Amino acid sequence: MAKTINCENHPIGVFDSGLGGLTVYRELKKILPGEKFIYFGDTARVPYGNKSADTIKRYAFEISYFLARKGIKLLVVACNTVSAIALDDLQEAFRFPVVGVVQAGVELVAGLPGQSRVAVIGTTRAIKSRAYQTLLSQKLPAARIYGQPCPLFVPLIEEGLEETVLLPATLDHYLAALRRRKPDSLILGCTHYPLIEHEIGDYFGNSTRVINSGRAVAMKVAEVLGGARSRILSSSDEFYLTDKQANFQKISRKFLGFSIPKINIIRNSII
Ligand code: DGL
Repeated sequence: MAKTINCENHPIGVFDSGLGGLTVYRELKKILPGEKFIYFGDTARVPYGNKSADTIKRYAFEISYFLARKGIKLLVVACNTVSAIALDDLQEAFRFPVVGVVQAGVELVAGLPGQSRVAVIGTTRAIKSRAYQTLLSQKLPAARIYGQPCPLFVPLIEEGLEETVLLPATLDHYLAALRRRKPDSLILGCTHYPLIEHEIGDYFGNSTRVINSGRAVAMKVAEVLGGARSRILSSSDEFYLTDKQANFQKISRKFLGFSIPKINIIRNSII
């Protein structure tokens, strides 16, 4: 059931397992510059991509309740792994709309012409959950759907190794078989992958369209907000992390293009 927003000047909550969701925040900010965002990155417990479904759901609820207490009007699940595992439960539990990257990415692809082979890549948990594949099959019943976990991409990007020989080797390792399938589109089903979007695009070539699920969710959020956009000039965004990673400013600059001005560190025990 569609949920109505009657507090348009309230902030939008965005959460991820860590800093990767900043790629989604960046897209949201481009499309909705007048909104105030509250970003939550669970840096103490990242990565989620190899954790059990029960644990991921528990973490997702803790964070969503924290953001709900901040009075958000809409929640963006920027983490593909959480979106794959817990979106339905979150949508049922909260009164505000909850928008996830998985569903937005699938809707975008389903709206494109000529999709007979669609591929998605992501963390082990996101791909093994088959959430992307199931939704894609529902929307594109005649299409062949391929899912490929690529667990090494996240640490490779976080370690800043994407400009070394390790990237072409890792692309080959995970994606050579998928490239032979010649997918019409390839969904980047992980917050970190937009940082190697061009390399992945070059690897597949022009006949495969690469879909950034962060961009897709930003477009979806604009649509869901409709007339409920903020009418006041937004005050500055807020950032909450559960741990101060040693290299977090470097990583956030990489994901965002600038440093996060002020970070609030919040212990998991009080969220
Ligand atoms: N944010 C996660 C995702 O989009 C990737 C990092 C992790 O495994 O937590 O699936």
